[in-house]
Amino acid sequence: MKIAVLPGDGIGTEIVAEAVKVLEALDLAFEMETALVGGAAYEAHGHPLPESTLKLAMASDAVLFGAVGDWKYDKLDRPLRPEQAILGLRKHMGLFANFRPAICYPELVGASSLKPEVIAGLDILIIRELTGDIYFGQPRGRRTAVDGHFPGAEEAFDTMRYSKPEIERIAHVAFQAARKRNKKVTSVDKANVLETFQFWKDVVTEVHAQYPDVELEHMYVDNAAMQLVRAPKKFDVVVTGNMFGDILSDEASMLTGSIGMLPSASLNTRNQGLYEPSHGSAPDIAGKGIANPLATILSAAMMLRFSLNQADAAARIEAAVAHVLASGLRTVDIWSEGTTKVGTREMGDAVVKAITKTITKG
Ligand code: IPM
Ligand code: MG
Repeated sequence: MKIAVLPGDGIGTEIVAEAVKVLEALDLAFEMETALVGGAAYEAHGHPLPESTLKLAMASDAVLFGAVGDWKYDKLDRPLRPEQAILGLRKHMGLFANFRPAICYPELVGASSLKPEVIAGLDILIIRELTGDIYFGQPRGRRTAVDGHFPGAEEAFDTMRYSKPEIERIAHVAFQAARKRNKKVTSVDKANVLETFQFWKDVVTEVHAQYPDVELEHMYVDNAAMQLVRAPKKFDVVVTGNMFGDILSDEASMLTGSIGMLPSASLNTRNQGLYEPSHGSAPDIAGKGIANPLATILSAAMMLRFSLNQADAAARIEAAVAHVLASGLRTVDIWSEGTTKVGTREMGDAVVKAITKTITKG
């Protein structure tokens, strides 16, 4: 088993180091190889996703990814910006299915900006289509408008599009995931306005015929954004397109107390996967040793379960994280009165310690 470790930029290097420590503590037989990605790769090789990094990722069973991006690259041509690294990995590895679970740990109920009764016991799964939609649709660019409100003016445009097989395969992923949970899928669209998402709704409905044991509900994205903060526990599995999924998953992160808690898995048809925290590179706190490594550590657990066939080891990591939270340790993003504030490294060390304890206990 081979894991490509791509820490990236900003807090990426700090949080990935903690996840690697946790993986090493499990004493499993896998090889880890680290490579540069994002702004760090641009600095060293002139490209955010160098050929060598892409090759390593493609040849691995799984990729453990930190984060990419920094404001200082905002002026670069788009193909050279750090974000292109993660978009390129998703595209080249065919990582179409993005799993973003939002679970509210009982100890973190107070860390959210929402009322405790709204989020206590929350366990939802956002499944975001990751290789289509307006993110990848062609054509896109800038040009002189020939029509519209201001003919002759400079304009920019992107293309929102989904093919039937793209919608079908993500719908199957969602229905199958729901079967292992509470058997309910909410498909989020904007069918009242967009052709692409009327088609999305039609195709999801068609696929649903094969899953009579799963309940399907359709919801417009604006309503979904509201329901997520009004009554999030009504959801089980949410399936949606690339852009709506990007936005709703950031919103859902707040239901868990902090975006620093949200892991993610991105899978292709061969179960090869890329695992990353849902948060970004947070350049404002990079290098300060205060970032929350738990989203990345929990992403490593998802990696063990989905791509490396090590469900027991994954459960051990998850139990260790729950144990550490129960013991009162908190990074600053989830800190509240009466708990103990720790830095990135102490949090990682505590998870390692909790794992080692369960191993010696057998
Ligand atoms: C995410 C991020 C990325 C996205 C960016 C960094 C390209 O926001 O993974 O949610 O928009 O998909
Ligand atoms: Mg995002």
